[in-house]
Amino acid sequence: MNETNYFDHAGTTPMDPEVVQVMSEVLSHHFGNPSSIHKFGRDAYHLISAARKIIADSIFAKESEIIFTSGGVEGNNMAIISTALQNQDKGKHLIATAIEHPSVLRTMKFLENQFGFEVTFLPVDDKGNISIEMFKKVLRVDTILVSVMFVNNETGVKLPIEEIGEILRTHPAIFHTDAVQAIGLLQIHPAKLGIDLLSVTAHKLNGPKGVGFLYKRENLLLNSFMHGGEQESGRRAGTENVAGIVGLQKAMELLNVEEKQRRLKEYNNFQELLLKKLDQEKVVYRINGDLGSHLPHILNLHLKNVSSNLALVRLDLKGFAVSAGSACTAGAITPSHVLTAMYGENHLALKEGLRISFGSGNTREQVKELAAELTALARNQL
Ligand SMILES: Cc1ncc(COP(=O)(O)O)c(C=O)c1O
Repeated sequence: MNETNYFDHAGTTPMDPEVVQVMSEVLSHHFGNPSSIHKFGRDAYHLISAARKIIADSIFAKESEIIFTSGGVEGNNMAIISTALQNQDKGKHLIATAIEHPSVLRTMKFLENQFGFEVTFLPVDDKGNISIEMFKKVLRVDTILVSVMFVNNETGVKLPIEEIGEILRTHPAIFHTDAVQAIGLLQIHPAKLGIDLLSVTAHKLNGPKGVGFLYKRENLLLNSFMHGGEQESGRRAGTENVAGIVGLQKAMELLNVEEKQRRLKEYNNFQELLLKKLDQEKVVYRINGDLGSHLPHILNLHLKNVSSNLALVRLDLKGFAVSAGSACTAGAITPSHVLTAMYGENHLALKEGLRISFGSGNTREQVKELAAELTALARNQL
């Protein structure tokens, strides 16, 4: 499969060859169970310990603050359910935004329906961001958990994590952020930002699927979410995905400060180039989101009079992969909950939104080709 016209990196990314290489080595030669005390087990255990150190260092954290998981969904479920159930004697109010990933939204709804929690879903404006004033208003003495994503996966909008962290320094609520779409481009220092819990998945970082981690601030108590063995110091039962963890380590190592900066610059350039080409061709579009508070790997466009579903199929036939929303909603015809939160239910952007997401391997040439295809689509010539 040709990856060159792949513009769906917010959905998932191709694996970096170096990641594949280190994982193959582990799969072929290091099969021990990290819990076994013999040489094979110790060998696997050492690989996990080394990965934990490198990953912890990359976010200025301690090794004891990293819990390996199966990815973002598990990290989000673990953070939210464990925190809520553990602290319900202190209050039953939770805050999230209306544009969280379904693994946050549905987990919050689950707690509401099954355990009687009260959840405030913060609305967003038509640029896809929340208001800090509104956040201050809804924060209550019985709020025990705030879960706000770092960067939205459909629009690329960056939420005001720094401000929320600052406000929560003087409030006992626990602060969780889903950093799945942010960690690949930003240097994140959870302790500095007042973040207690932070979820990451590897496959958005040119790493493997089915592995990620949850950062948990050292002194925060978090009961085990998966019950069984004593893995992850009793915090997450289940035999570790050793090759996946080593793959995650490699992916994060490759994304060092310089590489993140290089990518930020490159994706900004791609975005500018694409929009310039559309402008030159007088294509009528709007940006769903806010380029003023935004990460450039995601560009969500409303191409006037171009149905997203039709566009996806036509672009696919031409060898271009884009998305109509998040990967989870793209398979279904249901309109994007993010765009609905921004515009209401009947806005045309819900039927005419396209998410283009850049990644490593994309070139300016491909971006120009994509712009030409989008132009043809807008002129009904594709
Ligand atoms: C913002 C966000 N959170 C969580 C996830 C879930 O990650 P995973 O499916 O790897 O568990 C995704 C990926 O789709 C995402 O974009």
